[in-house]
Amino acid sequence: MLPLIAGIGFGLMTAPACAQADPRPDPGVAITPRPAQVQLTGQDFHLPATLVLSVSEGDPAARATATYLRAALQAQLHRPVAIGSGGAIRLERVSDPMPAEGYRLSVTPQGITLRAQGDAGLFYAAVTLSQILEPPTNRAAGDPAQVPGMEITDAPRFGWRGVMLDSARHYQSPEWIRRFIDEMARHKLNILHWHLTDDQAWRLEIRRYPRLAEVGGWRVEAGEHRVSGGIYTQAQVRALVAYAAVRHVTILPEIEMPGHATAALAAYPDLSAGAAPRVPASGWGVYPNLFKPLPATLKVLEDILDEVTDLFPSRFIHIGGDEAVKDAWKSSPEVQAQIRALGLKDETALQAWMVRQMAAHLDSRGRRLMGWDEILNDDLPPSAAVMSWHGVAAGRSAARAGHDAVLSPVLPLYLDYRQGDAPEDGPGRGVFPLKLVYDFDPDTNGLDPAAAAHVLGVQANIWTELLRSEARVEAAAFPRLAALAEVAWTPAERRDWSDFLDRLPGQLAAYHRRGIGASNSALRVRLKSDPGLAGRAIVTLSTQAHLGTLRYTLDGSQPRPDSKRFALPIDAALPVRVRAAAFRDDMKLPGELDEVIESPVGADGMPLRLSLCTSGLALSLESQAGPVVRVDSRNPCWQTPEVAMDGAAALRLSLVSLPYNFELGEEAAGIALDPSLGAGGRMEVHLDRCDGPVVAALSLGDPARSLRQPIRMPLATTTGRHSLCLQVRRSTPGPFWALEQASLLAVGGMKNPPVP
Ligand code: ACM
Repeated sequence: MLPLIAGIGFGLMTAPACAQADPRPDPGVAITPRPAQVQLTGQDFHLPATLVLSVSEGDPAARATATYLRAALQAQLHRPVAIGSGGAIRLERVSDPMPAEGYRLSVTPQGITLRAQGDAGLFYAAVTLSQILEPPTNRAAGDPAQVPGMEITDAPRFGWRGVMLDSARHYQSPEWIRRFIDEMARHKLNILHWHLTDDQAWRLEIRRYPRLAEVGGWRVEAGEHRVSGGIYTQAQVRALVAYAAVRHVTILPEIEMPGHATAALAAYPDLSAGAAPRVPASGWGVYPNLFKPLPATLKVLEDILDEVTDLFPSRFIHIGGDEAVKDAWKSSPEVQAQIRALGLKDETALQAWMVRQMAAHLDSRGRRLMGWDEILNDDLPPSAAVMSWHGVAAGRSAARAGHDAVLSPVLPLYLDYRQGDAPEDGPGRGVFPLKLVYDFDPDTNGLDPAAAAHVLGVQANIWTELLRSEARVEAAAFPRLAALAEVAWTPAERRDWSDFLDRLPGQLAAYHRRGIGASNSALRVRLKSDPGLAGRAIVTLSTQAHLGTLRYTLDGSQPRPDSKRFALPIDAALPVRVRAAAFRDDMKLPGELDEVIESPVGADGMPLRLSLCTSGLALSLESQAGPVVRVDSRNPCWQTPEVAMDGAAALRLSLVSLPYNFELGEEAAGIALDPSLGAGGRMEVHLDRCDGPVVAALSLGDPARSLRQPIRMPLATTTGRHSLCLQVRRSTPGPFWALEQASLLAVGGMKNPPVP
């Protein structure tokens, strides 16, 4: 899942018409995802001092929703909320037909009424109400108790509004997953696809095969010397499933087969097609370890699925099926004999056969199989559903062939891509900004109605190879899950980026109040500095989403609503401290900038902007030393822009050690290694181009033995403007050095003692 960049498969799709939707903004109402219809009436409601929620007797689902709403409102409003009769907030059932999960909500001077036919609709009405009462976005100015009068009629565009959480690569605690489910519910997202098993871990307790979690739940990560991980007991899982159910979230478990199985095979070596791995994988990528598709193994897998179906009431059970490289099957006499015995053509047909066995087993338990798009073929049973990750084309083909399908294309729905390109954006792959997710078009036009009905919906996937902590997952997920929610819920013609952006500051403030570490990359002020005349720089400010007016100071003072407005690039004398913020009216938006641009070549050196020489496997990786560094793991090489080299005497570099932990199969042969270099390899600096003359070179220490290495490299005398290519030459495929920072030191600027 990590190194492969999937095809970009947008169909030519346009929105179906919805007669009722009004695309215009809903002034003064901030509800995300944006409801299908909002009408402001001007007949406001005054919140009483004591809030009472009323539900009818004998409606346990309505009572469960009222209990949820009471807790949400108490936390938001900091006052007691009761459930009783005659309350100003009423949860009511209607008998007239409503779309699935639909609801109506009215705010009148007499009170607030939530109406739905079904349980989910009533719950979503409650979620909407909690947003309406979220301070201060939806209040009439000046009176926090004034709720604007409105009529909302709402229902989702898609029934599948999913998020995949990878708890295999890195573990998240059940407590944190509860909070994540809470956030999903607030976004009206309803499927938590839980990736529980992979090469690196098996997290789920299976009673019949206890070693799966005992052995598979723990590993030593590449470059580390400690065991880490965790497992989910069946009791914990049952509690999470119940917690999610109250919030109308279904947990879809994924048990990977036949590949991504290293952890399981380390626990039960007899199940392995080739030589069994001894331990769960410590690195990333696609491992060749596969389950052996013989009857004894299939029986074990069916036993496992039986425990899984006991735990998870989900209609679908996901069996993975992706990235199963078949080398182990090709070289196994037993597996080859099985192919012949079954009269199959090849290993691909064998995987298809195995999927059919599992589908039949799940069907016999009243469940349906789901898998990644590799499982799609002409013989896939009609009950099996396809999750399209190589773009959306496979999902559309599956739907045409009569399979249910979910669209979760890498671009733009893999949220382990970063939200922005600043150091604050943390580790990840390339950059998928908020707007890219918002603009995803899952439209089903071009499909006939029967096929369109098979497109269940959309899903974002949060892989955690590089997202090592819960905080990292939060920063990757939010606010992009708000964008996903709007794609999945809001009618296409009501989806409006500028309206969403208008709501974003309030949304970020709400995350903040709830302690969710959402990213502010869309609003954060960014600085670009280009060389100016001697001793000066040309400074450009921008934000990713262009919200608000940019204002700045150069005197160290805080930017204010009356600070100078940024219009044209600033010509600044160096060094300079630039402080800047975006303002909407008088309100400062999140993401203020405070950055010092250093003088050109001086005693402390001039920091050099670094970009990658190649982008074959470009990742932002979290080093154990701390910093996140951008590197092409197949080619650790960085370039600088052109700088004046006159007077430059040396380079000061800060290097951090990274474990080399990518299972690349045959692609690994493409990595240049020179065994004649010492253990740490060598840093070479070339002038102008990476094949240009070498102006500095230095052997490096062993990156397996230290996490960080500061170095100073004398430069051959050079005049004029040049760019530099800083190439790490490696001797082994093990840990390697990556460049964190580089600066140029001047003649006469050597007051600092040389560093080792
Ligand atoms: C996947 O990303 N391999 C589903």
